[in-house]
Amino acid sequence: MSALTVRGTRPLRGRVRVPGDKSISHRALLFAAMAEGDATLRGLGPGADVAATAAVLRALGVVIEPSDGGVVVAGRGLDGFAEPRRVLDAGNSGTTTRLTLGMLAGRPFHAVLAGDESLSRRPMRRVVDPLRRMGARIDGRDAGEHLPIAIRGGTLAGVQLELEVASAQVKSAIILAGLQAAGTTVVSEPAPTRDHTERMLAALGAPVEVLGDGQVQVRSGAPRAFDLDVPGDPSSAAFFVVAACITPDSEVRCEQVACNPRRIAFVDVLRRMGGDVAVEITGERGGEPVGTISARTSALHAAVVDGPEVPALIDEIPVLAVAAAFADGVTEFRDAAELRVKESDRVATVAAALTALNVGVEPRPDGLSVRGGGARPGRVDSAGDHRIALAAAVAANALAGDTVIEGADAVAVSYPGFTRDLDHLAAGAAP
Ligand code: S3P
Repeated sequence: MSALTVRGTRPLRGRVRVPGDKSISHRALLFAAMAEGDATLRGLGPGADVAATAAVLRALGVVIEPSDGGVVVAGRGLDGFAEPRRVLDAGNSGTTTRLTLGMLAGRPFHAVLAGDESLSRRPMRRVVDPLRRMGARIDGRDAGEHLPIAIRGGTLAGVQLELEVASAQVKSAIILAGLQAAGTTVVSEPAPTRDHTERMLAALGAPVEVLGDGQVQVRSGAPRAFDLDVPGDPSSAAFFVVAACITPDSEVRCEQVACNPRRIAFVDVLRRMGGDVAVEITGERGGEPVGTISARTSALHAAVVDGPEVPALIDEIPVLAVAAAFADGVTEFRDAAELRVKESDRVATVAAALTALNVGVEPRPDGLSVRGGGARPGRVDSAGDHRIALAAAVAANALAGDTVIEGADAVAVSYPGFTRDLDHLAAGAAP
């Protein structure tokens, strides 16, 4: 475990290109493998999570080779996948695990998925149960709730499913199984979650349709081969957007960022808090809007974050909690029980990180409240969670003095070059 010392206060100025979107990168690799023909993918997320998806696909016999600043995936179609000879290692990645289970649900072979300690604690019945209902044979630790999980794909039948949790990973797994099922599958979710799977698959000619009432309908079929330049990750951009808001004399532009409305609800929250944040859509890639998110030093005040907007900012709550720590008043995060089952229990780990920085925090079963003001440098533990390490670095950069982040190497899960980009923005502001 490496410790990182961040010395603030450092104003941030300039432009940054954050790494390729993690959610879109996973899907691009999987859909390219499921298609027949070569796909050239550029700008894939450089983190360990996306690498885990590529490694899983290679273990299934898919050839993925570097080429001209990107990779070429030699898609063989789902029928071309081979039974893996070893355990599929999903590392820290929930998206790799749950989407792979959906993809393998109709494959006529045996595979075992495993992951690191954090991933092995995360709930899997939410995806295992619906896939079993569709006809997949799945067994795993704690009756299938936890990794390791063994799957033997079956002959699948389409189902109508109303999901109890708002989870894009579960929705996506069912869609991927639905592509292999006889008949029609319809899945609906309790609140809108990121829709990259349905957007991308529909754009690639797969029989996936979003019905008017938010339901997704799937018939059997496959995507066609494609090339994609993956846009920047809004969840990574959020760290610099908040950093610019809370650090004096700062102005940052994050360019070429995926601006899917179901990913950038953190911008709405920051604006409600008085943040000087702007989104300018500049184009489209792979069916996704792309643009620039810019932010400046702002006098923030407290807000309430709850209800159906929560799934559209769930990954940004650690850094929004940092914004709240620098805002006037008490900010409430509610309806966010899903935080408890992320890479760490993020109610507990956000509360611990902010408490270590002298911020008043009250954890609750479904969220937390954060009292703004009073933050000072300290020693924070990432708890092995990339977004806790990144959020702590954002707070540290705005605080005069040295803050130590234990386990800062966790940033490699989504943003290995984060400190380099932070230093670049700090240099842009240097007199
Ligand atoms: C993701 C969905 C979300 C999110 C995760 C990525 C995806 O998880 O938190 O970081 O790529 O589909 P859930 O599906 O568990 O909500």
